[in-house]
Amino acid sequence: MAKTKMHLGFDFSYTHMGGRWRMPGSWAGRRFPDVEMFEDVARLAERGCLDMIFSGDGTGVPDTWRGSRDAAIEWGMNWPRQDLNPIMVAMSRVTRHIGYGLTYSSTFMHPYYTARLMNSLDHVTNGRIAMNLVTSTRKSDAANFGFDELMEHGARYDRMEEFVDVCRLLWDSAEPDAMLWDAASGRVGDPAKIHDVHHQGRFFKVSGPLNTPPSPQGRPVLIQAGGSPRGVRASAYVADHVFGADMALPLQVKQRAALDEALRAQGRDPSGVGILWQTPIVVAETAREAEAQRDRLLTAVPDEAVGVYLSYNSGYDFATLPARFTLAELHAEIVAQNASPVGFVHELALELGAESEITREEFFEHGRRVATSWNTTIAGTAASLADHLEEAFEATGSRGGFMLGHIVSMPGDLAAIVELLVPELQRRGRLRTAYRGRTLRENLADS
Ligand SMILES: Cc1cc2nc3c(=O)[nH]c(=O)nc-3n(C[C@H](O)[C@H](O)[C@H](O)COP(=O)(O)O)c2cc1C
Repeated sequence: MAKTKMHLGFDFSYTHMGGRWRMPGSWAGRRFPDVEMFEDVARLAERGCLDMIFSGDGTGVPDTWRGSRDAAIEWGMNWPRQDLNPIMVAMSRVTRHIGYGLTYSSTFMHPYYTARLMNSLDHVTNGRIAMNLVTSTRKSDAANFGFDELMEHGARYDRMEEFVDVCRLLWDSAEPDAMLWDAASGRVGDPAKIHDVHHQGRFFKVSGPLNTPPSPQGRPVLIQAGGSPRGVRASAYVADHVFGADMALPLQVKQRAALDEALRAQGRDPSGVGILWQTPIVVAETAREAEAQRDRLLTAVPDEAVGVYLSYNSGYDFATLPARFTLAELHAEIVAQNASPVGFVHELALELGAESEITREEFFEHGRRVATSWNTTIAGTAASLADHLEEAFEATGSRGGFMLGHIVSMPGDLAAIVELLVPELQRRGRLRTAYRGRTLRENLADS
């Protein structure tokens, strides 16, 4: 019996940040945001028959470390970034099949603007665009859009659902055959096939229709990532496919089950909704070479940059750490400051014991493995990685696949994925050998 095929995305979000840009062979002779580099990456990924090129996004500059953004800028931590929409347009013009996933925040953007933009991108890419909607967790992003405080967690998801309601009304406001372009009569559009939109809700008041021709996919493929129970419920409401975090397999199995339940509760068929699991990866001819490449991550940035990353993620300034402390003391301090007690400190306390004393240097040494994603990066040969991916794919219901990324060196590590891992997965009948769909939506449904 033919095996169910996986879907693969390639996430290039961090390839120029966190010191990756200066790893051997990385961005050689190029500087972000060199559009020709991105075009090369697109051609390469399409050669590997990947479903999609993807990027996350955010606008704020980390400023929790010492209450300043200087170290983030100095060491390139979550900085610089770029609105990738024009860059993905450029990539789409040198490829024919591979799709493009672009991230926008439903917490900050306006649905009319976003729906209209996605319509244009769907035209330009000829039906190969996906929108990844995020709710944003960072105060510095919120400040860019005029918010003094981050919207409450549940309200951000309420807003996301209403945001998508409005977008869907707008995308559906022109029927697929609304355009006439009839030279003989001069009629351009059929008014009976263009529909008014009058939306008034808790967050948005929007009148339509969109003044655009209907696009090849009608709507972009919608992707959404959110791991909390409310986030999973929103996934079931919003997403065609879900972007899942790179957690331990039992947690991924749990999220798959929770998503299936939420989908059924909303009357949707779980068999059609895949999860693409975030998967940091390094592949090489030998395990030793792959591990050596992964270990380079530990040399990518200085301690201060590690501090920037950890402080930004937790909302707590780790520059204030004393020379020696226990993780229980640090945890209490973080809670007292209303920062996020989950994440790195919590996991370190589980690993080392909350009462054991550690030094500031030891804390950053552990933190370095997290900040560089060394701890989650899977390094190996094509065969060992294919084994790993097949196991995770089957355990999580053989739907969706993986968002490969966090490579060490760009574009060499992507070339290794295409030259080593892709043929191995194809040999195992787990990956397409040619694109069969016309649109991204069709390719994602082809298994
Ligand atoms: C795999 C994954 C990718 C994400 N990518 C982004 C991103 O690119 N930009 C962003 O602002 N938030 C991103 N987020 C954050 C989510 O949108 C969300 O705000 C966060 O996970 C908190 O929601 P939750 O409590 O439901 O998980 C991502 C989350 C996950 C799990």
